[in-house]
Amino acid sequence: KKRIFSAIQPSGDITLGNYLGALKNWVSLQDSYDCIFALADLHTITVRQKPADLRHHTLNAYALLLACGIDPKRSLFFLQSHVPAHSQLAWILNCYTQFGELQRMTQFKDKSKKHADNVNAGLFTYPSLMAADILLYQTDFVPVGEDQTQHLELTRNIAERFNNAYSPTFTLPAAFVGKEGKRIMSLQDPSHKMSKSDENVNGCVYVLDKPDDIMRKFKRAITDSEASVHYGEGKDGINNLMEIYSCITGETFDQIEHDFSGKGYGDFKAAVGEAVIEHLRPIQERFAQYSSDRDYMEQYWNDGAEKAARIANRTLQKVMKKVGFIPPH
Ligand code: TYM
Repeated sequence: KKRIFSAIQPSGDITLGNYLGALKNWVSLQDSYDCIFALADLHTITVRQKPADLRHHTLNAYALLLACGIDPKRSLFFLQSHVPAHSQLAWILNCYTQFGELQRMTQFKDKSKKHADNVNAGLFTYPSLMAADILLYQTDFVPVGEDQTQHLELTRNIAERFNNAYSPTFTLPAAFVGKEGKRIMSLQDPSHKMSKSDENVNGCVYVLDKPDDIMRKFKRAITDSEASVHYGEGKDGINNLMEIYSCITGETFDQIEHDFSGKGYGDFKAAVGEAVIEHLRPIQERFAQYSSDRDYMEQYWNDGAEKAARIANRTLQKVMKKVGFIPPH
């Protein structure tokens, strides 16, 4: 079986963008791949986190991913900080990553503008920790949204550089980006991606939002003055709503245009809101159960970390030997 690895930062409440761009795919990939998933908690502190919030978001994210259908009996599912090999390999890969490469990362450029008071070294080397996450597991495919593909490209370059300098060590991973849902936009500003840290609360739908809030956000979504439901240029708002509706219902854009021909935006927005609410309802119900059972979660994240560490340490030891470090025993 081919190996899949992916991760999500527990840096805030999980969004519909995270779900449609990544999590929903992770769940279905479990049937055909050997899957490893992590909460990238080490990555979150590149931006200042309140300790209590980080704990809260991490527990919630773990429960929510279980509720979405990540099955810890089939897939390893753990916290990045529980497997020290991630930090250890990240240091080594830092020394095989060029300053200029990191400087070109658009996420770094965006975040260093947004958090200008805290442009720390971790924010800069974020992608080499991400490369370590992926390369430790000899990963074939990495299911992510479009915003992560540049980091994946860099990961391949680092891996190739190391392989060429020594001998084949790392599998070269490929990004696995879904056809639909790869870039869900803010409902209030469809030129920006929907993001956990959106200041405009109406722009971002969270997977755990109450039905009334979800409906309100969709009803207020920015559209255009044309009042005709079809996919097209200059219709970013409607395009985004069609994309969301299509992801959830499986309908093609042609079908959607046909179903809503002659209807106004109000009807369409309400239909999208309703579809999302109904899709998320069972997830929210399961979340309520998992999140109140910390023992249950703990058993799986311990088990996941233990098994992940065994795989990761094999790669780490190979790497350390090739570099020329003397093994401790
Ligand atoms: P993060 O936590 O920002 O997002 C998790 C996943 O959700 C996707 N995503 C979106 N997809 C579509 N539309 C959107 N609006 C949207 N917003 C987010 C992201 O592409 C991602 O797949 N660096 C990663 C976490 C990470 C990781 C890794 C991923 C750490 N190590 C190793 C893969 C492999 C991140 O910050 O994702």
